[in-house]
Amino acid sequence: DASDIEKGTYPHYMLKEIDEQPFVMRRIIQKYQDENGQLTIDPEIIREVTNADRLYIIACGTSYHAGLVGKQLIEKWAKIPVEVHVASEFSYNMPLLSERPLFIYISQSGETADSRAVLVQTKELGYKAITITNVPGSTLSREADYTLLLHAGPEIAVASTKAYTAQIAVLAILATAAAKAKGIALDFDLKKELGIIANVMEMLCDAKEEMEKIALEYLSTTRNCFFIGRTVDYYVCLEGALKLKEISYIQAEGFAGGELKHGTIALIENGTPVIALATQEHVNLSIRGNVKEVVARGANPCIISMRGLETDEDRYVIPAVHPMLTPLVSVVPLQLIAYYAALHRGCDVDKPRNLAKSVTVE
Ligand code: G6P
Repeated sequence: DASDIEKGTYPHYMLKEIDEQPFVMRRIIQKYQDENGQLTIDPEIIREVTNADRLYIIACGTSYHAGLVGKQLIEKWAKIPVEVHVASEFSYNMPLLSERPLFIYISQSGETADSRAVLVQTKELGYKAITITNVPGSTLSREADYTLLLHAGPEIAVASTKAYTAQIAVLAILATAAAKAKGIALDFDLKKELGIIANVMEMLCDAKEEMEKIALEYLSTTRNCFFIGRTVDYYVCLEGALKLKEISYIQAEGFAGGELKHGTIALIENGTPVIALATQEHVNLSIRGNVKEVVARGANPCIISMRGLETDEDRYVIPAVHPMLTPLVSVVPLQLIAYYAALHRGCDVDKPRNLAKSVTVE
């Protein structure tokens, strides 16, 4: 049928969309550069961002996880405070807002009812909004004051992959553009870093066999799985766990390494798979300490680290990228591991039970 033609040689949209990520990175670089080849954002949007005293990122699901990474980038690079909120909570429990808030809605589809409900409220309050979406002309795009497009191409699989990395890339461009407008000097060239990331993504997409092996070894029969990380690795763990539960129905949770001992470690049994991310130098020792804690309780650890931080016990080492941008690459192995876990457990990868690609009810 028509979907077979669109999938080409791929058995599933999800795998095709994972593989498209390097191209999407390069397309984003193309689409967001000015005539001099410099990455840029509409100056009017940047004026709104730099005039705000606080940004409020509103999103659901995977887009919320991208927002968490975006907060880091905007706060560290542009020095603007950012709050990230789950839309369905924000709409019924609005926090005390700052004096000059600006709202950023992140939505792959641009149709998510929970996010739209908040947009309606914040518009009524007279606040400006930017929508970051993959779909031009979508409801959230039309109803916001400004739109930043993801240029990721149609995402068909229910589990979001290329939209997540595209969202982070666009947020990174926004963060550097705002920093530049504020006269904050950054010691790296984002365009060059995103180019490196596209290449590393390609290498990771070529590591499918290794990811399939990991999925078979750790996840073929398990009932649950934990993902642990610190700082941005923690945010990627939330996304890795969401991917795994969405499509394989394995009960999966992402935890901040240091928080484990405050309760969750009680769930570790003999053989419980624990996937740990170690891409951040300043917390490398502490996350490895957390791995030791779970191993002492019988866990089966799978450490995915970054080149330069690796040890002999690591299962997979990702080539090094800019330390603030590691989520763009560290998520790829987790997407692939979730894919192969679901595949080998006989699940419907592209259309998991109980889920919809865009949820248009609150
Ligand atoms: C649904 C999808 C998720 C997605 C979420 C937000 O629940 O199943 O994959 O992350 O909606 O979607 P959006 O289009 O707003 O990014």
